[in-house]
Amino acid sequence: MTERTSEPITYDWQGTLLEKTGISPGQLSELAPRLQKARDEVLADADLWRSGRPVPEKKQPLDAGFMGLPDRLLAEYEKDGRESELGHILTTARRMADDVDRVVVLGIGGSYMGARALMESCCHPYHNELSRAERGGHPRMYFEGNNVDNDATQGLLDLLGRGQALHGVEDRWAIAVISKSGGTLETAVAFRQFLSALRQSCGSDEKMLADLVVPVTGPSGRLFDLAEELGCPDVFKIPDGVGGRFSIFTPVGLLPAALLGLDIVRLLEGAAAMNRRFANNPPGDNPVLDYTGVCHLMEKHRGATIRVLSTWGKGLESAGLWYDQLLSESLGKQEQGATPITAVNTRDLHSRGQQHQEGRRDKLITNLAVRHARREPLPVGHSELNQDRLNGLADKTLPDIMAAALAGANQAYAEDARPTADLLLPYLDEYSMGQLFQFFMLATVVEGRLIGVNPYGQPGVEAYKRHMNEILRKKEP
Ligand code: PA5
Repeated sequence: MTERTSEPITYDWQGTLLEKTGISPGQLSELAPRLQKARDEVLADADLWRSGRPVPEKKQPLDAGFMGLPDRLLAEYEKDGRESELGHILTTARRMADDVDRVVVLGIGGSYMGARALMESCCHPYHNELSRAERGGHPRMYFEGNNVDNDATQGLLDLLGRGQALHGVEDRWAIAVISKSGGTLETAVAFRQFLSALRQSCGSDEKMLADLVVPVTGPSGRLFDLAEELGCPDVFKIPDGVGGRFSIFTPVGLLPAALLGLDIVRLLEGAAAMNRRFANNPPGDNPVLDYTGVCHLMEKHRGATIRVLSTWGKGLESAGLWYDQLLSESLGKQEQGATPITAVNTRDLHSRGQQHQEGRRDKLITNLAVRHARREPLPVGHSELNQDRLNGLADKTLPDIMAAALAGANQAYAEDARPTADLLLPYLDEYSMGQLFQFFMLATVVEGRLIGVNPYGQPGVEAYKRHMNEILRKKEP
């Protein structure tokens, strides 16, 4: 294992400085005052939210509460320890870890994508397959309630024993049900079904059932009422003023992360560090403003309406999908907003690569890569069987090959004047991921203010829900 430090993530946009197909330093300097104004507005939004003053109609909805969360939670933890919200999350995670071997996280959209991204990026890649001891006593984790897939749901119920009696910790499982509104159909249906299986396993022990259900929800609503009725000892609230896709630093993301044994203090410290860079640094030395500026100019001047987040390695795919949701739901309004796409390399060099190299010139490729692998670099190795002709590369390691693939892809794109930028994480760990999530959330709201689109709220997703409910509840003639 390499020793971890508090290194900052970096953003390098040199690969977008292309005469005919990219942007110029002059355009970036010209945009700088507007970026600063958008940043000031975002910071003023956060102040307005904190102050509790009425929100003017043209600003509504204003879910600016996400910005101050990392600093507030850390300060409260330092002051009140176990009595603080973080303390409560950590205590509950410890109780659950002692009690159960599996946790099913029920939630959809912003109520699960962040937790999944954290598991995939920061846990052992085969966490669920490891023995309990190898997992450090932390439970396995499964995500459901994010679809209405009959066979997937039943597959997980099979795995959980379909209502069999719970003899020891290895048999025991729990539900973390996450829904801000408390009324989202997919999650509500799954909760009813998984709760029924858990109830069967608990028999007449109502207290055991209540202990094995941890709801995370808004301060009122159907889930809140169910939690009260069940008598769940630990219920976590999602604060007002924090929208689903901005809620990773509430118990929505923090509770599953703590259950997995991740260091949620480091996660928040990373996010708080990004807040400081965002608030204090000028364009040119401010990754949030620089990323926003480059994306905006590429879209406006070069028609780059497709933003490819090209992740390198296997641990960042879900983080990319989390960003897909953030960007789509925040800026895909008023016939605006770029289309996000997540690629995973080197895998997708063998699928999307052709199109990125020679397809329409409507894309900006942002590489998201990690500087230092978590584990010691694994060499190709020498072999007596050299039919594969790899002995010439025997001393090269997987990180060497990954770095060559990234540099090679960037070179190939540059040769065809395809714009690229690099977003580099020092390590794939909690501190880097905290920076990254806050970076993307801040960049998204800054861009919204820059183009005059309210980044909060998602009125467009209501239409399908209305129709689905009408169809489901329609009476047969
Ligand atoms: O970003 C959002 O607000 C949405 O994606 C929600 O998170 C999603 O619709 C789930 O909503 P809820 O948490 O109310 O169940």
